[in-house]
Amino acid sequence: MTFTKLCVLGLGYIGLPTASTFATHGLQVVGVDVNPQVVETLRNGGLHIHEPGLRTLVEAALKSGKLTVSEKPEEADAFIIAVPTPFYDDQCGDYAGQKYKLADMRAVASATEAILPYLRNNNLVVLESTSPPCTTADLVAPILERSGLKAGVDFYLAYSPERVLPGQILRELIENARVIGGITPASAQAGRDLYAIFVRGEILQTDATTAEMVKLMENTYRDVNIAIANEFARLAERFGVDVWEAIKIASLHPRVKILSPGPGVGGHCISVDPWFFVAAAPDITPLIYNARQVNDAQPHYVVDLVKRALGSLQGKKIAALGLSYKPDVDDLRESPAVEVVHLLQNEGVLVQAFEPFKPDTDLPGITAVPSLAAALKEADAVLLLVNHSELRALMPEKLVAMTPARILIDTVNGWAGKDWAGAGFKVFRLGVRK
Ligand SMILES: NC(=O)c1ccc[n+]([C@@H]2O[C@H](COP(=O)([O-])OP(=O)(O)OC[C@H]3O[C@@H](n4cnc5c(N)ncnc54)[C@H](O)[C@@H]3O)[C@@H](O)[C@H]2O)c1
Repeated sequence: MTFTKLCVLGLGYIGLPTASTFATHGLQVVGVDVNPQVVETLRNGGLHIHEPGLRTLVEAALKSGKLTVSEKPEEADAFIIAVPTPFYDDQCGDYAGQKYKLADMRAVASATEAILPYLRNNNLVVLESTSPPCTTADLVAPILERSGLKAGVDFYLAYSPERVLPGQILRELIENARVIGGITPASAQAGRDLYAIFVRGEILQTDATTAEMVKLMENTYRDVNIAIANEFARLAERFGVDVWEAIKIASLHPRVKILSPGPGVGGHCISVDPWFFVAAAPDITPLIYNARQVNDAQPHYVVDLVKRALGSLQGKKIAALGLSYKPDVDDLRESPAVEVVHLLQNEGVLVQAFEPFKPDTDLPGITAVPSLAAALKEADAVLLLVNHSELRALMPEKLVAMTPARILIDTVNGWAGKDWAGAGFKVFRLGVRK
């Protein structure tokens, strides 16, 4: 199949780089977003999201005239849907008394409906949003078939998940292997023809539900493996072992690779996607469900560690270092570090939080300060929540001059291997009780 014109619905972290990359590879692309501010910002030469290299790419695409932005789709050869798929905040499912989170697929449904008036014979529609199994066949196809056209017969329909890493999106979009699941083999082939325009990684063709499962399996695999690392940390503390040393040794086994424990799992993917499996089949997913429970409980575990370090928490002052969900990014979505701060505040702790990648953090209910010095200056203890390179690099002799605190609590093994005791600090580490 050949393509001249493409319509991309959703101009966020995934849709905008995708639309711009197709445009700089010669396609005429209409980028569509329901948020008028997004459309307005892009039309005025601005950018509403931060991703390295994206500004240059978007500018090139807009300047060439190959990319235009709009609040409405247009007729095109192909349509890509890249809209959010969070879970509901205000409702959940219940299986045998166990509550689970439900995928909010309203944006996918409404983006699909928006395509309906423009769908023509031989078009290709691709869903990229992370979705529960069977979404393409059971949600997207029936909506599109309201046009009178039959999916897989009159038009092609495929699912192709995005697996890029924020911070590396532009490179990974092109270089990563890509899976394309068609609701028919011809739909998968049409999808391959589209993405082969710029994808240099391997393109694997399969059916739509397999492709949906692939994406969810990747993130669920990581969630479950982090959960077992977190349980190992708890076990190590109980038995007087250093979990980090034990993990290092165990991982020398040629068939073992244990991930790192920490204050929990966050971000908008790994802490969200496993719920799509649980919600779709709660009766056969006890492992995935329990891994979510273990990881979601980890911030409480950190609070217990802080209690052990400080005794009573009431009125204590703590410098909390790092708020993002993982090292060296500014993304605070679903961050367990933020949860730890909230929990400590609920226990009467006065927390001064500092996020080096977002010094102007403005989260409701959290006192964030704009500098490391401000966080440290009156603290009773220093709590390392994110293994940012900049925080990991702090040396004992520097820290001792910046804070009256002499208690350090390290939840990410960022400060191992330094002579903290020599500088007068007492260190408490997650996963270590010796
Ligand atoms: N960001 C990532 O790193 C990443 C990685 C892999 C997969 N994903 C998945 O990709 C999908 C998109 O994520 P994102 O990070 O780009 O989201 P985002 O929130 O950055 O952007 C989504 C955009 O879609 C727009 N939108 C919402 N409903 C719409 C509609 N009906 N029609 C047109 N536009 C609409 C929103 O206004 C927003 O601008 C999600 O399913 C996500 O889980 C994201």
